[in-house]
Amino acid sequence: MNGRRILANCLIVVVSTLLSFSVAALDRDLLVCSVCHGADLQGNKNTEAPNIAVLPSWYIRQQLHSYQREWRGAKVKDKSGQEMRTIALSLTDEHIQNIVEKIAHLNDAMNKKTLYEKTIHKEISHKETSHKEAIDEEVKSLATNIKSFNEMPTDLLSQGKKLYQQCSACHGSDGLGREVVKAPPLVHQPMWYLKKQLNNYQAGIRGYHEQDSSGQQMTSIAQGIRSQDDIDAVVTFIKTL
Ligand code: HEC
Ligand code: HEC
Repeated sequence: MNGRRILANCLIVVVSTLLSFSVAALDRDLLVCSVCHGADLQGNKNTEAPNIAVLPSWYIRQQLHSYQREWRGAKVKDKSGQEMRTIALSLTDEHIQNIVEKIAHLNDAMNKKTLYEKTIHKEISHKETSHKEAIDEEVKSLATNIKSFNEMPTDLLSQGKKLYQQCSACHGSDGLGREVVKAPPLVHQPMWYLKKQLNNYQAGIRGYHEQDSSGQQMTSIAQGIRSQDDIDAVVTFIKTL
């Protein structure tokens, strides 16, 4: 290892530790959420809880109200939704206000961290070194959102890209969501969660209530996706945005 690389690696570790420290120091109101959503609220497959750290305030508020109003998490088949509904019912409006403010704060710290990791990854990829793979592994383990394009089959991606054209009208070509149409960001969510929600809309477990106009809109879109393969394709493409 030459001196510059050692220095670069040290910098990665120090800055990541500092940033993750500020992200990990969760407030008491958010601790209960972290039981299922993960220590940094970035999602947990075991509890089937999505990433809520990156969600905008308007969407968190809207979904918590949806759970409270039986628009979401009220169907017998929807076990995960039911769990979340129980939590939502225990929250007052004041609680919700506190939570969204604190998550917005986390969100800021997290964006800085991701941006930083992406920059470092780009710099390292440009260097030709025999240790590139080892460094890549290290950076991957630090980053949460680095995508390995090479591992994705191209036909799946091109089908996904075609399908995503209609999604981008609401979720944006960057997948970061658009508040005007109440469409949430999708890029940060794990694939298992995105697939599950599309299946939920299709199965009438979500987006079924006549007053839930946003949910109903998404249901009619989801019902237009013809096969599980197409769901896999569009979800895979979303992860490359
Ligand atoms: C007992 C486990 C559990 C706890 C505790 C919990 N959640 Fe959840 N949460 C879930 C699960 C599971 C889902 C996905 C449910 C579904 O499929 O509808 C979810 C979904 C959500 C969603 C919807 C996200 C989206 O992308 O639509 C929000 C918002 C949310 N939780 C916020 C919170 C907040 C805020 C707290 C803390 C006050 C919290 N959750 C605590 C399990 C939990
Ligand atoms: C007409 C606007 C519109 C279009 C087009 C659209 N969506 Fe949505 N989408 C929404 C809205 C609004 C919501 C929130 C609905 C709710 O409250 O349940 C949503 C929610 C979602 C969710 C749930 C996210 C979460 O965090 O729980 C997924 C997944 C999703 N959309 C995927 C897609 C995909 C894939 C496409 C394209 C095939 C698509 N959407 C097209 C408006 C749209």
